[in-house]
Amino acid sequence: MSDRFPPGFLWGAATSAYQIEGAVAEGGRTPSIWDTFSHTPGRTDGGDTGDVAVDHYHRMREDVALMADLGLTAYRFSVSWSRVQPTGRGPAVQLGLDFYRRLVDELLDHGIQPALTLYHWDLPQELEDAGGWPARDTAHRFAEYAALVGAALGDRVEHWITLNEPWCSAFLGYASGVHAPGRTEPAAALRAAHHLNLAHGEATSALRAALPARDQIAVSLNSAVIRPLSPDPADLAAVRRIDDLANGIFHGPMLHGAYPANLFADTAPVTDWSFVQDGDLRAIQQPLDALGLNYYTTSLVSAADPRGADPRRADARADGHGASAHSPWPGAASVAFHQPPGERTAMGWTIDPSGLYDLLLRYTKEAPGLPLLITENGAACEDGPGPDGSVHDPDRIGYLHDHLATVRRAMEAGADVRGYYLWSLMDNFEWSFGYGKRFGAVYVDYATLARTPKSSARWYAELARTGELPLVPKA
Ligand code: FCB
Repeated sequence: MSDRFPPGFLWGAATSAYQIEGAVAEGGRTPSIWDTFSHTPGRTDGGDTGDVAVDHYHRMREDVALMADLGLTAYRFSVSWSRVQPTGRGPAVQLGLDFYRRLVDELLDHGIQPALTLYHWDLPQELEDAGGWPARDTAHRFAEYAALVGAALGDRVEHWITLNEPWCSAFLGYASGVHAPGRTEPAAALRAAHHLNLAHGEATSALRAALPARDQIAVSLNSAVIRPLSPDPADLAAVRRIDDLANGIFHGPMLHGAYPANLFADTAPVTDWSFVQDGDLRAIQQPLDALGLNYYTTSLVSAADPRGADPRRADARADGHGASAHSPWPGAASVAFHQPPGERTAMGWTIDPSGLYDLLLRYTKEAPGLPLLITENGAACEDGPGPDGSVHDPDRIGYLHDHLATVRRAMEAGADVRGYYLWSLMDNFEWSFGYGKRFGAVYVDYATLARTPKSSARWYAELARTGELPLVPKA
């Protein structure tokens, strides 16, 4: 098997607006749900907020120069909705659009292809006050915002992503409440899921009308790889139930124009789904140019009880984004989550590259002919500078190496993978974990905001330069 990737394969890194930009009150930006949430006592580790984050808003040129230095050929970032359209409706604010136009121009000047995510979890607070994602109008607002950004940047940005991980928006935001807006209403979470689907469909249509024909539209799903604790039929049924709630609830409507067959019955005690209107499924199922997959780890589930596992102690999401007394899985109290065996990253997520293989081959079947992008993959490690100031992160190099070798193997088995975006370019605000978890290939000293490429960044630069997986250096 070759460790060489095809020419033109995109070597990217990913970030998101609230996690890196800072400058939360500049240029007319108004609060998003993450500003409100992070400023609410007890919601984030250490009370950390994205007020300053890594100050990318003011250091954008330096950051793009760093990307160029690392030989990246693509960069995935997100637009802060409330920077561009502060109230979530009406005309765009020029200053907000200008920031992203400058960023995109800077990227293009350095030969880096921009990949723009329209929504990475930072709903304008005004729209949450009007009901948030459980309200149908939010989907229409999103399509309007997509059209504004598409009209402003469609000439320069070829890669578009509507939503990042709608599962997290719906179920961590409205069911377990570990993400903004922190609500714990299972029925609202299912409504949110539907309206996120609708938002994706309507935004895709709006973008098609606004963008030049060559531009490509995708969505980034954190589709979970769910494994049964045993081959027992009850455990297989638990897998099926969680798979519908984690995956089919989004890819079903988006790719096939239908919700999974059992989903409505499974969640009947929670909601009657009467918020799904005639024509919605047709509006959601829009032709896409690629499917983005974010992958970190696998999940292990069983039927609850027999082995004494307590579903409430389960990870707050299939790949563990924080614990809550409220389950993020509406109607799935009969399922227990278990820690998959094996070594873990600093997030506590088990390292399992084989899950990425399974995921890529699953979507090769699920969406025949649709190119795949890995829009996020990476690991949090306990990084810190050595005595000479350099930062060595052999564990991250090992993680990246093994996952990329798996990607190559999946490609040989038929997966049409076009690019890879490492999460993340640099250390940043890791949501409810604050600044305590470092995912960056570039180290950020939070006292001075100085950036130092870690050894993984150099390793990745070599890969981007040659297209061939470098060996993992001996520790
Ligand atoms: C994903 C998010 C990203 C980051 C990584 C670690 O779920 O999209 O912003 O938090 O996890």
